Amino acid sequence: MGATANAPHIPVLLEPILAAVAPVTGVWLDGTLGAGGYTRALLDAGATKVIAIDRDPLAHEMAKAWAPAYGDRLALKLGTFSDLDTLAGEPLDGVVLDLGVSSMQLDQAQRGFSFMKDGPLDMRMSDQGPSAADLVATASEGELADILYVYGEERASRRIARAIVGERAKAPITTTRDLAKIIESQLPRAKPGQSHPATRSFQAIRIAVNDEFGELGQALKAAERALKPGGTLAVVSFHSLEDRIVKHFLQDRATAPAINRHLPASDAEPPTFALIGKSIEASEQELAVNPRSRSARLRLARRTDVPARSDAPAVPSIEKRRR
Ligand SMILES: C[S@@+](CC[C@H](N)C(=O)[O-])C[C@H]1O[C@@H](n2cnc3c(N)ncnc32)[C@H](O)[C@@H]1O
Repeated sequence: MGATANAPHIPVLLEPILAAVAPVTGVWLDGTLGAGGYTRALLDAGATKVIAIDRDPLAHEMAKAWAPAYGDRLALKLGTFSDLDTLAGEPLDGVVLDLGVSSMQLDQAQRGFSFMKDGPLDMRMSDQGPSAADLVATASEGELADILYVYGEERASRRIARAIVGERAKAPITTTRDLAKIIESQLPRAKPGQSHPATRSFQAIRIAVNDEFGELGQALKAAERALKPGGTLAVVSFHSLEDRIVKHFLQDRATAPAINRHLPASDAEPPTFALIGKSIEASEQELAVNPRSRSARLRLARRTDVPARSDAPAVPSIEKRRR
């Protein structure tokens, strides 16, 4: 795996984050190091220290070029952000998560994330666990349909799952092009302005391979445990399913118990977060220079001094659907 990529990753919604959290002080955790855009900006803006996590060894390889300049103000950790409180090992003043894949991951055909580039059907952000080719080879037709429907909102999920099972009986599906062709064969051609027919299915399989929703749910809980009172949580999501998880978690955690003296005492727990403003999308200027920011949405919240709750946030899951 090379340490460079053809297009640099342009950080999304970085200016609004920095504006919302200024002045940046104390210990921050960046759960999605990527090309280091957020990490470097936080350090340059005045963070005493940044703990930066990524599950992808490529992100760590790339960081070797610039990390030494920050000395021991930067701690790099290879791991998943669901473990962010354990990996941090200290209370935090801020947590940022910039979800999804980086431009480096998308651009490298051999990572298998893109139906636009032919490559091995991999899609793993780390180098661990089963790949997309393994999933497509072993999941039952029903499981495949549920993955496409629940994680990709693909209405033709059953038809595509049937086609995948039919084709894999003839020959193994091992490349992004193989899979894209099967999906395309089951859907009408995209009209101008519409996304490629394989977009939703590729998103769904990537989410399943990397357990992205499980990771996000656990990361939100871990941030609730690790943030100091007054600490900031900033999450950038890239599609509505992901944003819904963040939105519902923060709404739930920021909701005060109903107070009504004519009713028995509410058993609702007091808020562990206070929302900071409304969600933020990319400005026209940002969209003009970075089309990837088109679907991005930033949500911010401030930790209160109420102890973290034990209940996990609800996330869409095919296991729940299959029970
Ligand atoms: C959109 S990129 C982050 C880009 C970064 N903010 C920047 O400005 O360069 C997302 C990164 O998060 C990593 N990532 C995604 N899910 C993760 C998880 N559950 N645990 C750790 N890293 C994860 C990916 O490997 C990828 O490098």
